[in-house]
Amino acid sequence: MAKDTLTITDNRTGKTYELPIEHDTIRAADLRQIKVNSDDFGMMTYDPGYMNTAACKSAITYIDGDRGILEYRGYPIDQLAEKASFLETAYLILHGELPDRGQLDEWTYQITHHTMLNENAKKFMDGFRYDAHPMGMFVSTVAALSTFYPESKSVFDANVRRKQIFRLIAKVPTVAAFAYRHITGMPFAYPDNDLSYTANFLNMLFKRTELKYQANPILERAMDILFILHADHEQNCSTSSMRMVGSAQTDPYCSLAAAAAALYGPLHGGANEAVLKMLNEIGSKANIPALIKRAKAGEVRLMGFGHRVYKNYDPRARIVKKTAEEVFEVTGRNELIDIAIELERIALEDDYFIKRKLYPNVDFYSGIIYQAMGFPVEMFPVLFAIPRTAGWLAQWQEMLVDKDQKIGRPRQIYLGPTTRDFVPMEQRSLVVAKAER
Ligand code: SDX
Repeated sequence: MAKDTLTITDNRTGKTYELPIEHDTIRAADLRQIKVNSDDFGMMTYDPGYMNTAACKSAITYIDGDRGILEYRGYPIDQLAEKASFLETAYLILHGELPDRGQLDEWTYQITHHTMLNENAKKFMDGFRYDAHPMGMFVSTVAALSTFYPESKSVFDANVRRKQIFRLIAKVPTVAAFAYRHITGMPFAYPDNDLSYTANFLNMLFKRTELKYQANPILERAMDILFILHADHEQNCSTSSMRMVGSAQTDPYCSLAAAAAALYGPLHGGANEAVLKMLNEIGSKANIPALIKRAKAGEVRLMGFGHRVYKNYDPRARIVKKTAEEVFEVTGRNELIDIAIELERIALEDDYFIKRKLYPNVDFYSGIIYQAMGFPVEMFPVLFAIPRTAGWLAQWQEMLVDKDQKIGRPRQIYLGPTTRDFVPMEQRSLVVAKAER
């Protein structure tokens, strides 16, 4: 009868080991018994980039990369994008169930009433250069918020965690908008509690001298959909950073700043900024074949293409592409989308991309919408970090209450010099000369 075990024979010793299989995985620690000599450390796995290593068990987000499926707590992303609001989705991601009316009202009230920043926060945001990158401002300001809420270090107190979750989800749009106002030389626009989460964000970004900001409902809904699409994505680089830093029991503000720093990278959340730069460099459809040629030669990457997990079309990219057309009804068509659509068409017919299963990812079209809405490219990763704050906090909390988890500390394969004695200064040039021979 089939057993849920893996039998391994170590051909160095002829010994056989039987390891239990759970959730189609083996525990790496079970490999440590495999040794040649009894005083050996024992076997480990070597997995740079964690290409095939599960670091945790999670019930938050499910991705099927081959079938292009993304679900938050079992709900398909296309249904949430069509029928839910971002705050409703953030509640689902954090609590595991869709909220009833009373729960959603309470959740919305709490977040609406935590949108203000301590006035001191404005002082250090004003300290940044006039042209500071807003993502650098976001990362450092979120970390600095930890100094206003020292009680947040009590990470195992559920009530303390709940208050910081309200504060962070509520304040990240304010931090983002203040950063935008700083680089555009505009005075900060304060939160307006009469507005929805996304309408208030647009208010803090774009309010001018009018007494009451009026958000365009199409842009408000488009921003809400984009926030839903970016809310979580299981164990990506930034979420893994949130879990790693949080595993040291660091407060959620500094842990989230570490996650945002990871997201800032052009291979991750900085890709949407890189996509716009790439499309602007292409300039016209006639120049696409030359770029494709360079990408196939390994000289450049098609930013917004490819994904560690999706080996099919990123389901979020399809929804972003549809939302773009709705936004253009208000903002006017961003001609770059025609270059993007043609680039996608050519790439998806080319064997290089087909063989490597490289499809557009969520970043390929999102920047085109953001630019049409008037955002400078530097704001794009910040627009990613705002909704992902809900996912980072859910993953952080899930890690803290998981009895399996402890401080993260991977091992290594040491290939450096063996033990050697200290070399006095007068003998070093001799040692270096010998090493260079
Ligand atoms: C996000 O993980 C997440 O979930 C992230 C995210 C989220 O919601 O959190 O989905 C958000 O980060 C989306 C990805 C945004 N990044 C980009 O668009 C940057 C461009 N894409 C890549 O650099 C790349 O595709 C990654 C980083 C996304 C994935 O890289 P992998 O899985 O490590 O793949 P790889 O680098 O090993 O590439 C495999 C092959 C290589 O060719 P060979 O060496 O086999 O010949 O595919 C090639 C790569 O050269 N390749 C590309 C390519 N991406 C991979 N070639 C051209 N253009 C690309 N974009």
